[in-house]
Amino acid sequence: MSFPDGFLWGAGTSAYQIEGHHGRGESVWDEFCRRPGAIEGGGDGSRACDSFLRWQEDIELIKELGLGAYRFSTGWSRVMPDGVHADPKALDHYERFVDALLEAGTEPVLTLNHWDMPAALTWAQRSTVHAFAAYAEAVAGRLADRVTWWITQNEPWIIALLGYQLGLHAPGVADLGTAVRAGHHVLLGHGAAADVLRTFPGAQAGCALSLFPCDPATDSEADWAAAAGSDGYVNRWYLDPLLGDGYPADTHEHWERALGRRDGQGLDFIRDGDEAAIGGRSDFLGINYYTRRVMAAAPPDPFPWRVVGPSGDVARTDEGWEINADALRDLLIGLSRRFPGTPLLVTENGGVFGDAPTHDGLIHDNRRIAFLRDHVEAVRAALAAGADVRGYLHWSLMDNFEWALGYRPRFGLVHVDYATGVRTIKDSGRYYAQLIAGGGTVP
Ligand code: NOJ
Repeated sequence: MSFPDGFLWGAGTSAYQIEGHHGRGESVWDEFCRRPGAIEGGGDGSRACDSFLRWQEDIELIKELGLGAYRFSTGWSRVMPDGVHADPKALDHYERFVDALLEAGTEPVLTLNHWDMPAALTWAQRSTVHAFAAYAEAVAGRLADRVTWWITQNEPWIIALLGYQLGLHAPGVADLGTAVRAGHHVLLGHGAAADVLRTFPGAQAGCALSLFPCDPATDSEADWAAAAGSDGYVNRWYLDPLLGDGYPADTHEHWERALGRRDGQGLDFIRDGDEAAIGGRSDFLGINYYTRRVMAAAPPDPFPWRVVGPSGDVARTDEGWEINADALRDLLIGLSRRFPGTPLLVTENGGVFGDAPTHDGLIHDNRRIAFLRDHVEAVRAALAAGADVRGYLHWSLMDNFEWALGYRPRFGLVHVDYATGVRTIKDSGRYYAQLIAGGGTVP
């Protein structure tokens, strides 16, 4: 089966991970990176791939790969350094960038919040929802006449989990109650930004969720319950309200119990009307898929489950994540059945493969080629089964700053030499170019 006409073949990046500082405002990540031990190797995003200066080179790469779509983010702390006022020079930059993409025949997919919020703001506070809507208004006011695909928030669960529950990402808060509240505000932010985008004709608004299929470790009833609980915590808590079903009752009860016992207040930050302000505003759903979770029952408080796998001899990336393309196929088919009428866009999919340049100066990253081939086949199979998938955006166009893991993990189709900024297309990038030119098939 061939891919439908207009299917978006692309790759993605985000501002903090590639741009470098170059006059932007202070972001929560600048502060977080200064904490001793926060970032592996001690790096930060002050230079990254220097894409703020080298953006024309990035456009050349995009052209050379023949990308039909490119997902990037506008730096929130660049556009609104103080969290309140827009900097027109920053918008000029993104306007030039979008025009260059369009000239190259590449569809821009613009993410508004890819984690680099201004240091003055925090998702712990509800007022940030309004600041986010104002930011959406500033960017859309400049670019909505030429950008169709808008992603409001990137990975609400990861923001809540790593940023506010475990303190492993900016802003480095480690408090369960704050995490659940922050996650709610992130979703409200999606609703508010989507409402802004809807005032611009043609703009399509979606949220990109990190979705991890959760499988039971054994066939026991307890492990099935653990998998369902984890699915609620990781996936359904975000998916269901976004797509209009409101918060799932089982996870809602779980949080009421866990937080109510702790501070007696439960989920009182979810006010009347909030679920209605989150749902029914997604023109499409963005899916970031990397791997799945295998779950077993574990003693309660606050989570009656734990991740036990995938264990054993399965194919893995260099970061140890299981490579499982079938789970992507099943995820897409399942979502399409559950939410008919909501188009799906694979906004991220990729893996860490650390292959370095060899003596010929080239990067023979054959495992990434196999990964790409298998996941594209999974999308094809999902389409054949009737899933409404509109595009596949590989993560990432180029190696970049992988948050708390620093510059070690390499996700790129393009290798970046961080000492010189030199970009080299990897074998996987060449393969992807052929695949795109062949409409999803390498001759
Ligand atoms: C999730 C994030 O959206 C992105 O910023 C990150 O680099 C990749 N996935 C890989 O972990």
